Amino acid sequence: MHTFEPTTDAEEIERVPAADGELALRRAGEHYEIISNGCFLMDTRAGASERLLARTALAAVTAPGDLRVLVGGLGVGFTLRETLTDPRVAHVRVIEREPAVVRWGRGPLAPFSGHALDDARVHVVTADLVAWVRSGAGDERFHALCLDIDNGPDWTVTDGNASLYDDAGLAALRERLAPGGVLTVWSATASPGFADRLRGHFARVRVERVPVARGEPDVVFVAQEG
Ligand SMILES: C[S@@+](CC[C@H](N)C(=O)[O-])C[C@H]1O[C@@H](n2cnc3c(N)ncnc32)[C@H](O)[C@@H]1O
Repeated sequence: MHTFEPTTDAEEIERVPAADGELALRRAGEHYEIISNGCFLMDTRAGASERLLARTALAAVTAPGDLRVLVGGLGVGFTLRETLTDPRVAHVRVIEREPAVVRWGRGPLAPFSGHALDDARVHVVTADLVAWVRSGAGDERFHALCLDIDNGPDWTVTDGNASLYDDAGLAALRERLAPGGVLTVWSATASPGFADRLRGHFARVRVERVPVARGEPDVVFVAQEG
């Protein structure tokens, strides 16, 4: 997903300043693309691995209800939409750094998320996820942390995001999990070093691969206590 080339004949809808650069929303036919500093970030065409990010986390959670989920970041909302299909989910905290992405999510991208931002269970925080996780803001704990803010642990969209995936970042994420909680992390590359690092923090770690039209499969890392 995040690694396709931008469509050359796409029409630019809006371009805004963003963390470390700029962000653009482009339309190509019925579909939209989000471009970060000229680099493809996400589009509305596919989404299988983004949905799996939520589905595989929630499948591993055994709690019967009142689930709390964190989704970071929003993108076009495929992961968020998937969380809302689980009737056990009572609260979804979305952490998205770019205000424009949230605005687009309520505007032209709303149909692609099934208007997920209007769901009463969804609570959006416009913030840097890396800082938010480490700050202890709100002291919230989650049954599932579904993270997709980069092209992967080895391919971050901004330099500051790298510290989400180091030992201190993983320790902070673990602190955010409720008992029996699950962490899932999206990646465009296999990142074996990251899988090993996860094993240093979580008892159970597995790697799901999702075939894509071109190139390496997308990867979802799944990490859980006990
Ligand atoms: C690839 S998209 C997410 C795709 C999403 N899984 C979906 O289903 O559409 C990555 C998102 O993370 C956001 N993002 C990047 N770095 C972030 C950070 N440090 N904190 C919060 N959001 C961030 C981007 O603005 C973008 O909306």
